[in-house]
Amino acid sequence: MSFVEKIQQNKGLSLALAGLAAAGGLAYYFFNQNKGREECKKQCPYSAKKVQSVFDKLGGKQNIEAAVNKFYEKVLKDDRVKHFFKNTDMKHQAKQQTNFLCFAFGGPNNYVGKNMKDGHKGMNIDDSQFNAIVELLAQTLTEMGVPQDVIGEIANICEPLRKDICFQ
Ligand code: HEM
Repeated sequence: MSFVEKIQQNKGLSLALAGLAAAGGLAYYFFNQNKGREECKKQCPYSAKKVQSVFDKLGGKQNIEAAVNKFYEKVLKDDRVKHFFKNTDMKHQAKQQTNFLCFAFGGPNNYVGKNMKDGHKGMNIDDSQFNAIVELLAQTLTEMGVPQDVIGEIANICEPLRKDICFQ
């Protein structure tokens, strides 16, 4: 093989190797880019596919409405809290609570009512009464088959409302 032929053969080999390296590089690039996109789908609030809200986990407004009705049946039987509702229009209350919770759980905002501070002003609700309400909600959801981790999420959503609802 002449010197020139050797160089030409090596050139072919080098080209083939360069081609392989480029293909590998491209594959690696696209693989990582897609991995990044998958990560973004999990975290990015602007992504089309968001983390599922509690509203969705509960199956939407119909299920929340059913839960609220069951919950108030319990509330009206519970000696710790039933006296608060003796003058309340419970049909209206259930509607207000359903819309409030739909929004608080990450669903659409159709709540037209007072904020939690004004809505509970003058009731002088204490911590144990607040706990009783959250407990009855959790009990209702447990009976309806909602998983405990979702109920935990709901308790975490309700907890920050305590400071507005209690002792005023
Ligand atoms: C997670 C806690 C709670 C949430 C999310 C909540 C939510 C609401 C909402 C949305 C309303 C309707 C306000 C309006 O229509 O403008 C309301 C009213 C009311 N809440 Fe609560 N509440 C909570 C805790 C409590 C507790 C602990 C009590 C008493 C033990 C209580 C007693 C009442 C009563 C009696 C009303 C109706 C007042 C009326 O007759 O107009 N709430 N609440």
